[in-house]
Amino acid sequence: MAELISEKAAFRDYQESAAYISKRIGGVKPDIAIILGSGLGNFAERLSDAIVIPYREIPNFPTSTVSYQKGELVFGLLTDNGVTKKVLAMNGRFHYYEGWEMWQTAYPVGVFRLLGIDTMIVTNAAGGIGYNDTRTLRPGDLVCVTDQIKLAPISPVRGPNIAEFGPRFFDMQSVFAPELRRLAAEVAAEQGFALKEGVYAYMSGPQYETPAEIRALKILGANLVGMSTVAETIFAAQLGIRVLCISCVTNMAAGITGAAITEQEVLDVAAEIREKFTALVTGVITRV
Ligand code: HPA
Repeated sequence: MAELISEKAAFRDYQESAAYISKRIGGVKPDIAIILGSGLGNFAERLSDAIVIPYREIPNFPTSTVSYQKGELVFGLLTDNGVTKKVLAMNGRFHYYEGWEMWQTAYPVGVFRLLGIDTMIVTNAAGGIGYNDTRTLRPGDLVCVTDQIKLAPISPVRGPNIAEFGPRFFDMQSVFAPELRRLAAEVAAEQGFALKEGVYAYMSGPQYETPAEIRALKILGANLVGMSTVAETIFAAQLGIRVLCISCVTNMAAGITGAAITEQEVLDVAAEIREKFTALVTGVITRV
């Protein structure tokens, strides 16, 4: 009889990773974790008294391969308006298109949980599919993700369930925590702009989408398209970690303007929005 063979990490692997990180950061419990997407990595430079831990030094951690993304955890203090928070930032994330299994792309989130983290901000660069009923999403917009669509069949929690992390079957309806979304909108308004909202659709990439795929996603109710974030969010839901997801619209999705989509354009626009993005995230973290 055939047996189910799983390559998935075991609970003790996560424990080893967490124990190592905990030791490096002096046993302190971070207030919040943030996963930084393409071009947004320099947020970590805002952290003071930083402790930098390259992924390759962490037992059982995957190692980031995309050349422009660093592969390191940065633990440090973020101060704004007299409030200081202890932040654990992931500078460089793992993508399915790089060859990682879906569970590996979400692996750090299990480690966050073991470090006592219950709130996480995830960020990404995304294509704008058009509109969210009343407002058009354009390059340069910051968008708060209200929900996600993952048509790709593989889940990060497929395979033997790790009971210590949560139930086999779990709810996805409140992972994008309404109170975090409200706070982000409030902070944006104080900073003088309206934070848009939208549904993020995951496509596994690395190729950008075809116009037909984007038309299909639009019919399904998606406003944004990208190649990251959903696995981390699914694992967070199982772990009971609440998520704030902020997308930076770097381009109009395929077929909308007819212009070719290039990685350079994505990185350039992400770089242009960096200051606004950093200010928003800083405001949210210090008030969360
Ligand atoms: N599609 C998928 N991923 C992306 C895009 C896009 O148009 N822009 C930035 N990341």
